[in-house]
Amino acid sequence: MSWFYRNALRPLLFSQDAESIHNRTMGMLNWAGRHELICDAMRSFLGAAELPVELFGLRFPNPVGLAAGMDKNANALPAWAAMGFGFTELGAATWHAQPGNPQPRVFRAITEEAIVNRMGFNNHGAEAIAEKLVYWKKLGRWPRHPVGMNLGKSKITPLDKAAEDYANSFRVLRPHLDFFVVNVSSPNTPNLRELQDKGALDEIFSALQEVQRDSEQRKPILVKVAPDLSFEALDEILELTGPRNIAGIVATNTTISRPASQDSAVQKVYAETGGLSGRPLQARSTEVIRHVYQQTKGALPIIGVGGIFTAADAWEKIAAGASLIQVYTGLVYEGPTICRDIVSGLVAQLEEKGLIKLESAIGLRSKGL
Ligand SMILES: Cc1cc2nc3c(=O)[nH]c(=O)nc-3n(C[C@H](O)[C@H](O)[C@H](O)COP(=O)(O)O)c2cc1C
Repeated sequence: MSWFYRNALRPLLFSQDAESIHNRTMGMLNWAGRHELICDAMRSFLGAAELPVELFGLRFPNPVGLAAGMDKNANALPAWAAMGFGFTELGAATWHAQPGNPQPRVFRAITEEAIVNRMGFNNHGAEAIAEKLVYWKKLGRWPRHPVGMNLGKSKITPLDKAAEDYANSFRVLRPHLDFFVVNVSSPNTPNLRELQDKGALDEIFSALQEVQRDSEQRKPILVKVAPDLSFEALDEILELTGPRNIAGIVATNTTISRPASQDSAVQKVYAETGGLSGRPLQARSTEVIRHVYQQTKGALPIIGVGGIFTAADAWEKIAAGASLIQVYTGLVYEGPTICRDIVSGLVAQLEEKGLIKLESAIGLRSKGL
């Protein structure tokens, strides 16, 4: 982490309400994203080394991506590449625009390097987001890295109409993006996680595949899982991936569990309803990655997310079986140099281990090497 971020900027940012500072930062990044010179300047400070990964027929300049939820409405799309990210996952987008839960709904547990959130898929809706994507393309500011979309269910849509809701969003967003992530694992939409049930999920996958049945260019569809699922429930999801052509797993979303803490400020944050992310999620998310990797014998690509702050954290996820990784809470705590630092640390690790490509490191530890 840069000295400046830790000692000057972060204390200033953390002295303000989490969501207000998020919105203000997104406003600045939106402005930056519209100006090529500003992005070039950002890239010269924050740009990451090349560490390419080929996956889903796409080329990722490096394996560090922006996790879903940070840029729900594609407001700052060009800025993420300028900050060194190797790919961006936008969203969650839902079919109906919705305000999300009442504020406050994001809380920092600073000493634990964690966040509890119950945003509830606040977003402008799939059609408005599609227009925003067209805007960035017309402006000539589309990033030179893969861009995906996290799809959520609208709150007003009943569970038994979920497949149609996801398919509607997919239909309007599909032409504009490189990959999609079906999010059935957020704890902040009532009963959403019941869609991780095999039958319900199968219906959603089937509806999405139907949308692209006649298309020549099929877009990879992944599924994002909760860290709170049992391995048995995870295995049921894995059974669907082959028959339904699912391209990969994103592991994991935030957790509804809470670790013990003696710190009263932390206890107060942990008492808030919502999903916990950051450092306390790290070990469980790695366990889920290892399980998926072993269960699928490494055949199903995994995007590892949950408590990644440093190159060592990223390496652990890759060695457990992740082909790509993502950060959210790490960006908040480590600041905008996080990609540059993680990628340069990964390059150094590869050199130290005598490996030429990142692909050689995937699942090393899960294979017991
Ligand atoms: C404020 C906030 C909003 C989020 N919104 C979404 C979302 O819309 N869709 C989703 O799949 N995950 C969402 N997430 C989860 C992250 O994408 C990620 O899976 C999780 O935070 C674990 O990674 P981390 O420890 O690096 O934060 C959100 C997380 C936070 C903190």
